[in-house]
Amino acid sequence: MATNIINMNNVSKTYLKNSHVVKAVDNVDLSVKRGEFLGIMGMSGSGKTTLINLIAGFDTPTSGKIMVDGFDLSTFNDEQFSQFRNKKIGMVFQQFNLIREFNVLQNVIVPSIIANKDYSTIVEIARRLLYEQGLEARLFHYPNELSGGEQQKVGIARSLMNDPTIVLVDEPTANLDRKSAEKIAGMLEGMHNNGKTLIVISHDQNILKNANRVITMEYGQLIHSTK
Ligand SMILES: Nc1ncnc2c1ncn2[C@@H]1O[C@H](COP(=O)(O)OP(=O)(O)OP(=O)(O)O)[C@@H](O)[C@H]1O
Ligand SMILES: [Mg+2]
Repeated sequence: MATNIINMNNVSKTYLKNSHVVKAVDNVDLSVKRGEFLGIMGMSGSGKTTLINLIAGFDTPTSGKIMVDGFDLSTFNDEQFSQFRNKKIGMVFQQFNLIREFNVLQNVIVPSIIANKDYSTIVEIARRLLYEQGLEARLFHYPNELSGGEQQKVGIARSLMNDPTIVLVDEPTANLDRKSAEKIAGMLEGMHNNGKTLIVISHDQNILKNANRVITMEYGQLIHSTK
């Protein structure tokens, strides 16, 4: 088993907007060890979300090579990308991305329904994950009936449904109060202790205090690394 679960070599992502070229990710070399907890900081627009979208295969690089868990992402067709994301990647979005028309339980089970798993097993796993988040009384509530922190926890439960190898988390506590933020920090630490590879974009010292390494992005480049 390779030590590095993620290897990015000379990766760039360029967007063309109104004939203006934006180098969202600019010649990045990044290796992440299996089981590592990597923090990413950097000012708005520095390319953090683009970077994790490239790792998740939500976006494809303009140039460079990305290897994730032994796979060269450039070789994937759409179907292979979907399977890869569904099985290997857990994604926690800054804006939660919950489906408004679905209740909490329905939102959480979506990734496993897509993976075609046994329904009663799925519901059992979802209930356990939601219980761990303290949301057992909220199973049949809809996203608009939940606080921001509760919605974020639903997003975290959903990201763990298929027991992903890598969890990518985009500013999990940006809009949360101190107490909710601390709970989320604890959950992330729990994932790390369970052996998940964790990449977390955050400016919250409390969230990144257990990170093995924190990198900073500036104008699409990695400019700084600690530890
Ligand atoms: N789909 C797109 N089309 C055009 N430009 C884009 C697109 N996505 C991102 N960009 C640009 O790429 C740059 C990096 O964006 P990105 O979302 O990765 O930044 P970020 O570091 O996550 O910022 P924030 O902290 O505000 O979330 C920005 O200048 C942004 O405007
Ligand atoms: Mg972002």
